[in-house]
Amino acid sequence: MDKRELIEKIQALKKERNAVIVAHNYQVDDVQEVADIVGDSFALSKYCASGNADVIVFCGVHFMAESAKILSPEKTVLLPEKDAGCPMADMVTADALRREKEKYKDAAVVCYINSSAEVKAECDVCCTSSNALKVVGSLKEKDILFVPDQNLGSYIAAKLQEKNFILWKGFCATHHRIKKDEVIKIREMHPDALVLVHPECRPEVVEMADFVGSTKQIIDYANSSPHQKFIIGTEMGVLYKLKKDNPGKTFYLLSPGLICPNMKKTSLESVYNALNEMKYEINVDPQISAKARRALDRMLELG
Ligand code: 13P
Ligand code: SF4
Repeated sequence: MDKRELIEKIQALKKERNAVIVAHNYQVDDVQEVADIVGDSFALSKYCASGNADVIVFCGVHFMAESAKILSPEKTVLLPEKDAGCPMADMVTADALRREKEKYKDAAVVCYINSSAEVKAECDVCCTSSNALKVVGSLKEKDILFVPDQNLGSYIAAKLQEKNFILWKGFCATHHRIKKDEVIKIREMHPDALVLVHPECRPEVVEMADFVGSTKQIIDYANSSPHQKFIIGTEMGVLYKLKKDNPGKTFYLLSPGLICPNMKKTSLESVYNALNEMKYEINVDPQISAKARRALDRMLELG
């Protein structure tokens, strides 16, 4: 099937199944084109918690589809590529977190949405990169046990100095690989460009940036800025929307390594197969789901 045919078939199946296609900002261009909504983790969570579709085709990684299922248990949630996971989410398990919680009984336990349902079920509240500061800043506890991203944790810890952070040692390999030297080099090459980075980058990279935010916040910032040139320090998928929304502006990827292999697994073919064969359905144990939902609902209230 060629691209046009595939898109027509996807649209027809979408109607037949009363489905919506939800895509993260890191998805390949073709998938973003066919989606009903493209956004960051927070925007997509809010979208999935509402609406009256029967089926959600989640073009992203496993924890995102799982969060959609927890927020909309009555809907069928499909992940087109069953092996699309987030290695950072796998860096913390519920068992290991339970052991750590024993050591910090007074701490509020906060998980980045990039975590499994079992881990969310162990936490007081969840957050995304766009609302982490607001969510953690609104907690009454002084001690915060933050999992799994040490870099997002360090970013909010630097802003909330009145709190005491215990950071899990997880990281996103895609963002963590960017070093300070690369930022220095690319700034020298494009001195008139602003540096916009994701908080999953190392603290020394974040410190050098002109703006730090979620994928959606980076896109919104570039869209509304009078500046003409930007160095982008997050996964290259955001370039699709940045270039589409700003044909007159110039965007440089901070590092050629900014590619998340898991986000790149989903294609138009896999979206078509997902809708045609109703695969791969994501289900969450009801008891785990109910507990994880408390952490997600609290985030939606606070964030
Ligand atoms: P956003 O919530 O900023 O879209 O980020 C999700 C993610 O996985 C970043 O690597
Ligand atoms: Fe996970 Fe990093 Fe990929 Fe985001 S970019 S899904 S944090 S591996």
